[in-house]
Amino acid sequence: MLPYLPRHPVPDVVRVLAPTGDRLWLVTRYELGRQVLTDPRFSRALAVAGSAPAIHPLRPDPVALTSLDPPAHGRLRKLVNRAFVPEAMAAQEGPIRRTARGLLKDRRAIDLVSGYAMPLSASTICQVLGVPEAEQDRFSRLADRAHGITPCSPQESESARSELRAYFAALADLARREPGEHLLGTLILAQEQDGALDEQELLALIELLLNAGYETTIGQTGLAALALLEHPAQWRETVSRPGLIPGAVEELLRYAPVVPISFTRVARQDIELGGERIGTGEGVVVSLLHANFDAAEHADLEVLDVRRDMPRNLTFGHGPHVCLGAQLARLQLRVALEELVRAAPGLRLTVPPTALRWRPAEAVVRGPTTLPVSW
Ligand code: HEM
Repeated sequence: MLPYLPRHPVPDVVRVLAPTGDRLWLVTRYELGRQVLTDPRFSRALAVAGSAPAIHPLRPDPVALTSLDPPAHGRLRKLVNRAFVPEAMAAQEGPIRRTARGLLKDRRAIDLVSGYAMPLSASTICQVLGVPEAEQDRFSRLADRAHGITPCSPQESESARSELRAYFAALADLARREPGEHLLGTLILAQEQDGALDEQELLALIELLLNAGYETTIGQTGLAALALLEHPAQWRETVSRPGLIPGAVEELLRYAPVVPISFTRVARQDIELGGERIGTGEGVVVSLLHANFDAAEHADLEVLDVRRDMPRNLTFGHGPHVCLGAQLARLQLRVALEELVRAAPGLRLTVPPTALRWRPAEAVVRGPTTLPVSW
């Protein structure tokens, strides 16, 4: 059993003490969660102010897409959306599949995190952003340290983050000289043609896309694989009916979401929610994990079932800030699973689940850091 399934029953809306020492409201139901994520009376911009109640000690960049309210949010989001259109995402399938296949070729054993999820996510995000192939190793070494995916000291992490920022500025210059069919090229075009983006916004966007897109897919691939390894009958079902995989991906996203809680929103005014009164200036966080197990309409949500039809979930959030990379993440997960099923039908863990190591509890993104398997 995965060690972090939500424990029922919990109140619909409950006061919690964050690791920062701040008190916030946690919303644990699906419908109430959607309400918070769409209601403009709950603000992201107010939540990044220095004095706002916070769940994590790190304050997000106030110019980042995730920190904006309408109308500034909509303006910036429209620009980035151009690079995430379905055709652009579909074009990634071939390269993702080739990489996944190459990583598993002629292997009988692998660490599914360091040997599969990490290189696959690195090459996908590099391809999408426009990091030249020859520089992908350097990029992933920096990104792994910057995000503590590879264990390192806070100082090493900070220095990797600033090196990464300088690298992105150089990459933006390169894309200006040699524009290409990638996200950076699209953003540079928006900057030059429409004057829609200043340099600071551009660099913040690139950093956000890396933050939001890299460690999430690593963690989610690990969590999805582990959930299947812990449910051998579900794994066998997936192996014998690969056509189930797109649905299985949805179920795995529901069952083992890599980002368990939303960002904080702050109430602009007093708001009644689920029988509680949220006061002006108070912080609210949605437990995406609890919402995914909210059994108001469905039965047996504690059970992993790869045949489940359209399991509703909040894994990618909802409303104006809904995950921009959801289609890309789904695509990568589907291809990763399809290739794993094809190459390694007899997949099994080579250590007991209790011996696995995990990302630190305070990390925004969760997941195992090792997943040794053989077949
Ligand atoms: C399984 C993988 C992923 C999960 C579970 C995930 C989850 C989320 C969630 C829950 C949010 C909304 C948070 C909130 O509103 O409080 C979000 C936002 C976002 N995600 Fe993802 N994400 C994933 C992968 C990606 C990828 C691959 C990219 C891009 C390459 C990406 C880019 C973004 C961006 C830019 C936002 C902010 C959107 C906005 O503020 O308008 N994500 N993600």
